[in-house]
Amino acid sequence: MSDIRFTYVPGDGIGPEVGAAANNVLHAMAEKYGHELKIDKHLIGGAAIDAMGTPLPANTLASCQETGAILLGAVGGPKWDHLKGADRPELGSLLPLRKELNLYTNIRPAKPHPALMDNIPLRPEYLQGVDFIVVRELTGGIYFGKKGRDNLGAYDECRYSEAEVKRIAVKAFELARTRRKKVTSVDKSNVLETSRLWREVVIKTAEDYPDVELEHLLVDAMTMHMLTRGQEFDVILTENMFGDILTDEASVLCGSMGVIPSASLSDGKVGMYEPIHGSAPDIAGQGKANPLAMILSASWMLRTSFGLDDEANAIDAAVDAALSGGHTTGDLGGSLSTSDVGNWIGEYVRG
Ligand code: IPM
Ligand code: MG
Repeated sequence: MSDIRFTYVPGDGIGPEVGAAANNVLHAMAEKYGHELKIDKHLIGGAAIDAMGTPLPANTLASCQETGAILLGAVGGPKWDHLKGADRPELGSLLPLRKELNLYTNIRPAKPHPALMDNIPLRPEYLQGVDFIVVRELTGGIYFGKKGRDNLGAYDECRYSEAEVKRIAVKAFELARTRRKKVTSVDKSNVLETSRLWREVVIKTAEDYPDVELEHLLVDAMTMHMLTRGQEFDVILTENMFGDILTDEASVLCGSMGVIPSASLSDGKVGMYEPIHGSAPDIAGQGKANPLAMILSASWMLRTSFGLDDEANAIDAAVDAALSGGHTTGDLGGSLSTSDVGNWIGEYVRG
């Protein structure tokens, strides 16, 4: 019996719907395993702009810092598209949260579920055995460099320190050790100086991991290799913007963005967990949104921030059963609503 205290930031669009389904599943888990849930719910993104005039209110940030475990829905939508820079829901909330909590390791898995093979626009031989994880550096690079306008145009500076590259490389090698022991580092070292530093530091880090195989690929080539020989990758290590692009591409290998969770981690147990999909404003409020990625994000939080492996495994098994049995929303060929899926998985967890 223990308290599970986390910050819940549903955000915008379908965020609150998939969030409600995930919280429903968490309540079922808590009942079954005798835990007490303490959910600090806060505004973020567009919802926070509307209510408080800022995408990341001080009390939201304070709660995230205090609990160190954050379950996030999604932020943004057409209503706030006219806003610029840090006034925007995504830029003004996600990026500062990543920076303030030092969430430098972003992890996004790619493993097609057998029940979703027909959703994937690639021949089955390209999908069999695909099981890799992208480790994306999340608090450096072009996202956080100096940006601006001058009389010549606009600029976004890309910088990496040796220490920033080293710590994310260590995460990738450590993760590879728990898996198939291979790291593929992705850069653009034929053009970019930051990529040359990246490659040097990764090669040096690899010396401490002689049991892990290391290969390097240029990012443009990687966009092809990911789809044509995805089976050969285990841990893909890359910098912030390349990781942003490659993880969207990787989601194609999984049949749906609606089933992929992600974790943004600092050192220790501090982490933010969220689906990789966005706020999907076109289907918001209709009960159509697929909550599986959010539910898997919640189980990832249990495992990583609270060390509750059995509880997380029970939720993952329930999601697996929902997928295999077709207890899904319309995007995956099922006929259930968002809350129906949450209820079904909650019941399965209760056993
Ligand atoms: C992601 C998103 C964000 C990013 C946006 C919304 C700022 O695309 O988490 O991948 O670019 O990091
Ligand atoms: Mg992205």
